[in-house]
Amino acid sequence: MIILQKGNNWVIEMAHSAYAFGVSVAGHLIHRYWGPRLPYLGDYPLLIEVQDADSFNIAENRRREEYPALEGSRFFETGILLELPGGVRDLHLRFASVEIIQEEEIAVRLTDNVFKIDVILHFKAYSEFDVLERWIEVINGNDDIIQLSRAFSAVWQVPQLDEYWLSFFTGKWSDEFQYHRERISGGKKVLEGRRITTGHDGNSWFALDDGAANEEDGRVWFGALAWSGNWKTIAELTQNGFLQVLSGINDWDFVWRLEKGERFETPHAVGGFSENGFGGASRRMHDYVRVGLPHGETPRQVIYNSWEATAFDVTVESQIELAKIAAKMGVELFVLDDGWFHGRNDDTAGLGDWWPDEMKFPEGLTPLIEAVNDMGMTFGLWIEPEMVNPDSDLFRAHPEWVVQFAGRPKRTARGQCILNMARRDVQDYLISQLDDLLEKYNVSFVKWDMNRNVSEPGWADAPGDPREIWVRYVYGLYRVWGELRKRHPEIVFQSCSGGGGRIDLGILKYADQFWASDNTEATARLKIQEGFAKMLPSVTMESWVTDQNEDLIPLAYRFHVSMCGVLGIGGDIGKWNAEQREEAQKRIDCYKRIRRIVHWGDRYLLRSALEGSVSAVLFMDKLKENGVLFIFRTYESEPIVLSKIYLHGLQQERNYEIDGEVKSGAAWQTCGLVLSLANFESRMLTVRRVEGE
Ligand code: DGJ
Repeated sequence: MIILQKGNNWVIEMAHSAYAFGVSVAGHLIHRYWGPRLPYLGDYPLLIEVQDADSFNIAENRRREEYPALEGSRFFETGILLELPGGVRDLHLRFASVEIIQEEEIAVRLTDNVFKIDVILHFKAYSEFDVLERWIEVINGNDDIIQLSRAFSAVWQVPQLDEYWLSFFTGKWSDEFQYHRERISGGKKVLEGRRITTGHDGNSWFALDDGAANEEDGRVWFGALAWSGNWKTIAELTQNGFLQVLSGINDWDFVWRLEKGERFETPHAVGGFSENGFGGASRRMHDYVRVGLPHGETPRQVIYNSWEATAFDVTVESQIELAKIAAKMGVELFVLDDGWFHGRNDDTAGLGDWWPDEMKFPEGLTPLIEAVNDMGMTFGLWIEPEMVNPDSDLFRAHPEWVVQFAGRPKRTARGQCILNMARRDVQDYLISQLDDLLEKYNVSFVKWDMNRNVSEPGWADAPGDPREIWVRYVYGLYRVWGELRKRHPEIVFQSCSGGGGRIDLGILKYADQFWASDNTEATARLKIQEGFAKMLPSVTMESWVTDQNEDLIPLAYRFHVSMCGVLGIGGDIGKWNAEQREEAQKRIDCYKRIRRIVHWGDRYLLRSALEGSVSAVLFMDKLKENGVLFIFRTYESEPIVLSKIYLHGLQQERNYEIDGEVKSGAAWQTCGLVLSLANFESRMLTVRRVEGE
């Protein structure tokens, strides 16, 4: 709910939090508040007019603006940087007007009256989740071309705290979502992606606290950017003790030209506040993400994916054999991965030629799809649309379509080049090819992969500045994917990029789920999944049971890890013995009974996999009636100690039965559950509310 206070002062009140700003006498849009919702409107701090303090601490640097621009002598990071006619880079943004849209969205127009540049700041509240979306539009009202060299989506002003602790991810291929939390005692922490896609090496997600927050207590401010290209998150602590977090498209090698009358709209930045620690922050994000998923609450199917079993060596026969076993186990969706299309026998050829390989599938994909459908499963297909191998018909016809600098050598990686998705002709070609493919075959699921990072990011015949490729590539990708979704709304898409290289809020307009990592070893996966869950709900995370480390890690353990997401099987099930197949069938059956709670309930991290050998996660339904508790132990040298798991997320005065014992929610939280687990042992326990004492 957006409330106008007296003067030009607004408060955005959400379920448990509020955000406030107002216009200063000089016309700047000044940040006033972001934190817990307060009882009375008059409680929100008033705008502070800042005067020059002394010659070294001048006003511009002490003002907390919603969207600072380079004005006068600005020494800290600004939301926007641009070049105006005559080489001017000074921008005086002053309040011009405001529009309130359906009580939940406010658009504040700031204008530089001399150069006729408008910057519209958008704030959209998702009140239920205490989440705000922010983005900006820049409009060039000048007769001359202007050039943006930075246009971040949001500048988040965090209240003054005694200390500032930043949580963030680093990573690499097969090791995504590695969580860190460190103190910012001064200066800046810059996190960024420069790979034309989101990247394995980090993520725009961040959280901030005062050092005292823990999983279930304490104040946490958090955010992420809804963008699938180069991104940047800067946390800057200024000399005045203010911390601001800037979030947006990476300004590294970024240029955007605006002709008279043109506008540039940034992707949306998401920000939220929780008084219930990091767990509360993650649950708010989960709820916010889940309401926007393309396929809503449709149950996510149990997948079999043949990649780790057959790699490129796919034939109708080998896939049908696997499908038969999968169907018996209770798999609902059979996915044919890489290796099915024209000329694809290894990773050196074929990408770009999206029709079935004539040798492997002489009658096309229909015989396999029909066999899969007859077994009661739906069929899914792997594609990697943005890529082309030099050894492909597509490359031979259109060598000019790849990302490269004119007259310079271009590199391949995994034997492939990147198609320039910024080009309209490339987009149109892909839409038509892939639409034909999806039209022709009964495909219910598409795994959209992207297996290399960019190099030589050139665009020889770019209509504007070739550096616009960084952004136009992503818009091109969105257009192709969006068009295919529009034409085939029933298809569920998975976003994959060599595992978790394209996991962000932006791609969730198109995809329902992610392939979180190519690392399917269950103990490594515990940490990856824990990081992933700080930002995203389990319903978006595919997780397969494979044969990695099978001698050490029991099948039950591998299942339990994968049951914390969208369950898939990726092992070579042809080699599983009867006992293993039977166990798989039972576990799949059990998963189908609990998946609704795992996917749509609330997630509580009870013990972190980052802090010791025992970790535990609880999923509770929204009514706090039923839950599922997963407990894992990795390796720890003897002697074995009993592990205590303190539960959260239960109603304090209600009784719950766990493992045959009945206690109140308060008792489970205070006294905990005592368990003895051996190395590489896991447990799945149900939590059930019962009546009586
Ligand atoms: C990378 C993906 O993450 C894998 O699951 C698999 O699809 C391969 N690509 C296929 O090339």
